[in-house]
Amino acid sequence: MYDKTIETLKKEDMNLADEIYIFDTTLRDGEQTPGVALTVDEKIQIALKLDQLGVDKIEVGFPAASKGELQASKEIRALDLNSTVVGLARSVKDDIDAVLDADLEYIHTFIGTSPLHRDYKLKMSKETIISTAVEAVEYAKDHGLTVEFSAEDATRTERDFLFDFYNEVVSAGADFIDVPDTVGILTPILTRELMTDIKENFKIPVSVHFHNDFGLATANTLTAIECGANQAHVTVNGMGERTGNTSLEEIVVALYSAYGIKLNIDTSQLYSLSDFVGRLTGVKMPVNKPIVGDNAFAHESGIHVHGILNNSSTYEPISPELVGHSRKIVLGKHTGANALKSKLKDYHIELNDEQFEKVFNQIKALGDRGKCVTDDDLKAIALTELSSA
Ligand code: KIV
Ligand code: ZN
Repeated sequence: MYDKTIETLKKEDMNLADEIYIFDTTLRDGEQTPGVALTVDEKIQIALKLDQLGVDKIEVGFPAASKGELQASKEIRALDLNSTVVGLARSVKDDIDAVLDADLEYIHTFIGTSPLHRDYKLKMSKETIISTAVEAVEYAKDHGLTVEFSAEDATRTERDFLFDFYNEVVSAGADFIDVPDTVGILTPILTRELMTDIKENFKIPVSVHFHNDFGLATANTLTAIECGANQAHVTVNGMGERTGNTSLEEIVVALYSAYGIKLNIDTSQLYSLSDFVGRLTGVKMPVNKPIVGDNAFAHESGIHVHGILNNSSTYEPISPELVGHSRKIVLGKHTGANALKSKLKDYHIELNDEQFEKVFNQIKALGDRGKCVTDDDLKAIALTELSSA
């Protein structure tokens, strides 16, 4: 255990919100992963699993984008899930109407605020950006929606303008403000400075939506939470535009493991959800993906396996059971005698000392020749040795 308790950290370095909400956008930003397209039925299946897992909010899609998106939003809404069902909309009436048509109660609406978005995408002045956003909030509120407002590309927006913008949407009635790091340019120290400033200036709940272009989305989201962010946007497996969004499983486990924050999530479903989404989307996780990758709890070196066999915490930060994963002992040139003994025991193969030595040397030799030694290889080698006795 890290030698500072959560209580000391809270006092010294952190400003944790009383409640932290998980806003999952796998079915919206996650589906924007290049090459991924989900059917209505697949979206429903994923929504049901996210609800079972216990996320607070599920952004089910962009209802104005297509007939299928509208239908999926309607059908997921009709399931009457525990999670709040959210629809995305640009700050335009037709998009908001599509969210209403899907009978959703919560809208995530946005407009670009940075100079790049103002000048090259929207071609709007600062004043028009603000008035468009305010009209969108007023329209959505008049129709009974809970409104979360994102200043797209917030992290590349001039701070004065960003704060003027948020002040206006808050005055118009927005219930949450969201801070997108749209192209993932933040670092933890920049996040700390920005989030501290936002929390000092705004009293309504603040959400973060961070992209992973520099591989920092999880670190930045944790930093934002340390500075008082009330909500994190996440996706299963970190899916999303380009290099993706903050990963759901990394945030949930890091909050639990580092700070003892349990949330309402059933962590034991994380691995199966990751696997399910990987199969439906066709996006396979790298073996070294934290928490859910094939190697997240795999051990090869003799030194590590020896430690693991005595006490798994020696080389594992959490137990695989916590996330519904499993431990794997892999054989190769780094294998030690303890690992081999344990594997042979698993397969009920008993060798004498001489046979054991021969099998051990063959495994090392295969590893040196650049070969991976599977459990089937081991069984074949050991049984050949037994039968040649
Ligand atoms: O990354 C982003 O800025 C978005 C917006 C729609 C909030 O996904
Ligand atoms: Zn995004």
